[in-house]
Amino acid sequence: MIARLDAPLKVTGAAKYGADHTFDGMVYGYVLLSTIAHGEVEAVDTTAAKSAPGVLEVYTPFDPLPLGTPSLPIFGDTWVPLQDKEVTYYGQPIGFVVAETFEQARDAAALVEVAYRERPARTSLAEHLDSAEPAPPAMDGAPPEIEVLEDGVESFEAALAASPVVVEATYTTATQNHAAMEPHSAVAVWDDGELTVYSGNQASHMQAAELAMALQLAPEAVHAVNPFVGGAFGGKGRTSTPAFLASAAARALGRPVKAALTREQVFTATAGRAATVQKLAIGAEPDGTLVALRHDSWCHTDTARSFVEPTSHGTSREWYATKNLSISQKIVPLNVPPTTFMRAPGEAPGSFALESAIDELAVKLGMDPIELRVRNNSTAPPGHDLQWSSKHLDECFRIGADRFGWAHRPPGTRTDGDWLVGMGVATAVFPALRFPATVGITLRADDTAVVATSGADPGTGLLTVLSLVGAESLDIPADRITPRLGDSALPPGGMSGGSTATASAGTAIMLAATKAIDELTALAADPGAPFEGRQVTYADGCVFADGESMTFGELLRTVGRETVEVTGTSAPGEELTKHSFASWGAQFCEVRVHRWTREARVSRMLGVFDAGRIINDKAARSQLMGGMIWGVSAALHEGLEIEANGRLANGDFASYLLPVNADIPEVDVQFVEYPDTLHNAVGARGLGEIGTVGMAAAVANAVYNATGIRVRHIPITIEDLL
Ligand code: MOS
Repeated sequence: MIARLDAPLKVTGAAKYGADHTFDGMVYGYVLLSTIAHGEVEAVDTTAAKSAPGVLEVYTPFDPLPLGTPSLPIFGDTWVPLQDKEVTYYGQPIGFVVAETFEQARDAAALVEVAYRERPARTSLAEHLDSAEPAPPAMDGAPPEIEVLEDGVESFEAALAASPVVVEATYTTATQNHAAMEPHSAVAVWDDGELTVYSGNQASHMQAAELAMALQLAPEAVHAVNPFVGGAFGGKGRTSTPAFLASAAARALGRPVKAALTREQVFTATAGRAATVQKLAIGAEPDGTLVALRHDSWCHTDTARSFVEPTSHGTSREWYATKNLSISQKIVPLNVPPTTFMRAPGEAPGSFALESAIDELAVKLGMDPIELRVRNNSTAPPGHDLQWSSKHLDECFRIGADRFGWAHRPPGTRTDGDWLVGMGVATAVFPALRFPATVGITLRADDTAVVATSGADPGTGLLTVLSLVGAESLDIPADRITPRLGDSALPPGGMSGGSTATASAGTAIMLAATKAIDELTALAADPGAPFEGRQVTYADGCVFADGESMTFGELLRTVGRETVEVTGTSAPGEELTKHSFASWGAQFCEVRVHRWTREARVSRMLGVFDAGRIINDKAARSQLMGGMIWGVSAALHEGLEIEANGRLANGDFASYLLPVNADIPEVDVQFVEYPDTLHNAVGARGLGEIGTVGMAAAVANAVYNATGIRVRHIPITIEDLL
């Protein structure tokens, strides 16, 4: 167990994030946002702003910085600001003021007069459910409606009607923002037609590609640097408005430009998680066997039909064995900020609905909710033949129940002084994916090695994982590895998204290490080399032949080489035709609801996870702990309130509630560790997102156990428990 290599730099303030970079002659940009939700910018008067002290330029849709629309495979188009006069949400970037200082830019922005031709705005998901349209196909190609029926069953309705026990209920979840600690920002510097951008993001090679497309540059003319990222969670997957505008303005003005969103601007000028409405219908046998499961979902998108929160798609991919399954996924385009990936997209809000409904079924059946879940354990995704590669969910529940004292859960309310105490449980699942990745290994004559890939470490510990997997693959101590990340000039890989980074980059490291070792052993046996013509093996950082050995550094020095440089590339492949892959977990929590004030507090929580091999126990634990805390946050704290005019009523850190230390008890994280080498050579499946899945339902189920009140929306507030 080792601490993250970058931790000392972060806790001492020595880590330089994107906006911490400064350059001679640098000027500052301030983003101007719309104050209507729908309409057209009719006129912008920049006279006062342009004559304000220190102002260099004011860019608006009438005087834009030209930017093309970037498009990446899988991700699609990325929106760029200022290219037309349309306003489609309140808080949309519509201007950019550049001045000698940040304060001058900010103050001048307040002097810009904007006139709008306003149109009626649609801002409420609940009010516009009737106008829903089918979602486009999911990222994996899944259609918006899926039905699986048992042989001989005429329709899903018939299967449900024939079920002896039925639960039907509607659940809703709130709009959320990633609210990463580091606001979206960028510093852009041009040198002889080439651009360097310092900006926190989830993959530096993707940021460089997007900027090159937007600025119509050759890909190699853009250098994206992001050594440290202050939280991302899906919200820094695409290039941000400050990065586009700072880059374009720096080119236009011939000066380095720094731009950062304010905390309030982050809530609208980026993208967040959609609100959802989810209707569940579950039919079961009296012994708990699921007969029919229907999950219909609605979520909002922006008017350009941004990311769909795939709550129903999760149910069709990973959850329970059922003979009859029906899912639908619908969208309601609104005049609200764009939606995008947010930690466990789909599974996080989807599991609140599904796992609450399963709890309701357990109550109706008079059955233990763990027993109900284990009884319906799936061996493959519903309607598919490919079995899960490795699944120990039942063991997670067994260990968790024992550790948490589940057996002591009384059937009714337990009290402790003025507190009503309840326990809740839920399943956590998240698909295990992998992306193509390339990693470079450089062996050096001083017996050290560099392991490098472009990606990013948004606080996940990937940098440390590069070091650990590199050390293992090269059979040398980790302190002789220099890991490098967060620079688009490095081999492309290690995107931090989709819980994929360790499996993707790790596999590429192993392939690169094999190539490096092959090259070393060949080098040692070359004519004139120390082991000429002999059979050479490699272990422990040394080459061996006939009982003689030398370190790889000695070998390189002897043959006059400074380095051996190789790259390894991996991509998902044949394994996808053989198995299905997901990570698993069992979430437990104890909630106390105050008898008189009705406040709900989580007093104990435990997650037991099956995520394949764990590379760094400490970092893995921290990841899961963070996810579980986010689940409590979703259950009891977080939610954006959208006013009728589209303004976010609580888009700031004063009123967008997030848990603080006092809200979170000791978080207990356990692993059952079964390396999954059917998924990838490293044996590690993803764990970045699964921690949050199921936790909101576990909290709501515990609230029910404590009070007998079933709350079918999150966040749960005092008013719900009166
Ligand atoms: Mo993420 S939601 O893993 O980018």
